[in-house]
Amino acid sequence: MILFTRHCSAPNETRYVSESLASGHTEGDGPFTRMASRMLSERTAGARVLLTPSGTHALELAALTLDVGPQDEVVLPSYTFSSTANAFALRGARLRWADVDPHTFSMEAPQLEAALTPRTTVVVTMPYGGVSQDTERIARMCAARGIRLVEDAAHALFATTSGKPLGSFGQLSALSFHRSKNVSCGEGGALLITDPALAVRAEILREKGTDRSRFLRGEVDKYTWQEAGSSWLLADVLAAVLAAQLEHAEESQRHRMALWNRYHERLVDQQGRLGLQLQATPEGTQHPAHLFALRLPAHVNRAALIQRMAGDQVRVASHYEPLHLSPLQARVRAEGETTPGLPETEALAPRLLRLPLHGGMSLEDVDHASAALIRGIEQGARGS
Ligand SMILES: Cc1ncc(COP(=O)(O)O)c(C=O)c1O
Repeated sequence: MILFTRHCSAPNETRYVSESLASGHTEGDGPFTRMASRMLSERTAGARVLLTPSGTHALELAALTLDVGPQDEVVLPSYTFSSTANAFALRGARLRWADVDPHTFSMEAPQLEAALTPRTTVVVTMPYGGVSQDTERIARMCAARGIRLVEDAAHALFATTSGKPLGSFGQLSALSFHRSKNVSCGEGGALLITDPALAVRAEILREKGTDRSRFLRGEVDKYTWQEAGSSWLLADVLAAVLAAQLEHAEESQRHRMALWNRYHERLVDQQGRLGLQLQATPEGTQHPAHLFALRLPAHVNRAALIQRMAGDQVRVASHYEPLHLSPLQARVRAEGETTPGLPETEALAPRLLRLPLHGGMSLEDVDHASAALIRGIEQGARGS
C-alpha cells in the first residue's frame, strides 16, 4: 500500500534523541532548540524563532502576542484548517471569511480586497500547499492600512514568493512540524517573529507569562510574572528530532521535489482529456513540494474514486471543509444573519484531491499512483 503520508527518519535523529535524554536537558529551550531555531531562522530570512509544541500553539501565541480581542476583526480564508481560525476565535475576535483563487487555491490579493472592511485589524494568510502568488502584495496592502499580518505557514516551510521565504512577510508567522509536514518531530511548531517590538512580549507569554528567558540569559537577576501567559515550549528531546530533520532537509526536499515533478510530468498533459485541474504554481512562486493537489472534474464521484484507488493500493485524501459553512459558524451566527457565499471555496472543497507524497516513496510509486488515478477517472468513479 502506498501510504498517504508518513514520518521519514533523518540520519542523526536517534543519536540526537539519545544525546538529549543523556544530557539531562529534555525540557524546552535546550541545546537542540537552539540548533533547530538557528537553522529555521536561516531559512526564513533571519526571523526570530520560538519553538512551540504545535503549529496550533504557534497561532495561539501569535493571537495573544498581538493582544487580539473582541475589538478586532480578522480576515482569513475559509479554506484552511480549524487551527487558523481557532487562535483568533478563542480571543473573541470577529472573523470575516475570504474566498480563494481558483488556480492557486490560496487567498490572494483580490479575495482579500473583497473581504476587507474599515474595521479589519488583522489579516491571516494560509498559502495552500505553500503556494502564494500575492503574499508580498498582501503585506503591502496591510502595511498601507495599518493592519497586522499573520502568516499561517504550516504548509509553507521552504516555499518562496517574490524571491522571499513565506513566513517572513507577516509580523508573526506559524510553522507546523506535525507528522504530515515536510519536516516533522511528531507534534511541533514555531512562531516566527519579524517585528522585533513583538519579540519580548512573545517570549514572556510563551514562558508562563514570566521573563524567565531573560533570567536564563543573565539579563535580570530573578524572573517574575509579567503577563497572563501559558507554557508553549517544545521539549528539547523533540527539538532533537527536529534538528536532525532540518540538517537533512536539503536532501529530503530534493527527493520530495523529484516526486512532485514526476506527478506533474505524468498528469499535466491529462488535464484537458480528463477534465482535471492541477494546483497552479505561478511564475515568481517556488512551492515546497508539501502536497500534490488537484481539482477533479465535476462528473467524478470523489468518495468512490478514493475507495477505488485504495483498492489499487494507493491512499489519497480530500482536504478542508469550508470553515464559513462549519457547524460552529452556523451556531455563532446571529439569528437571521446569512453567510455570504464564497463561490470558489464552495466549488473547490468537494472536488479537491491530494495524492500521496512523502520521503518513503519512489518514482515508481508516483507512476503507480498516477496510473491508478487516471484509470479511476476513466473507468470507475463516475456518477454523483
Ligand atoms: C494550515 C494549517 N494550519 C495549522 C495547522 C496546525 O498545525 P499543528 O498540527 O502542528 O497544530 C495545520 C495542521 O496540519 C495546518 O494544515
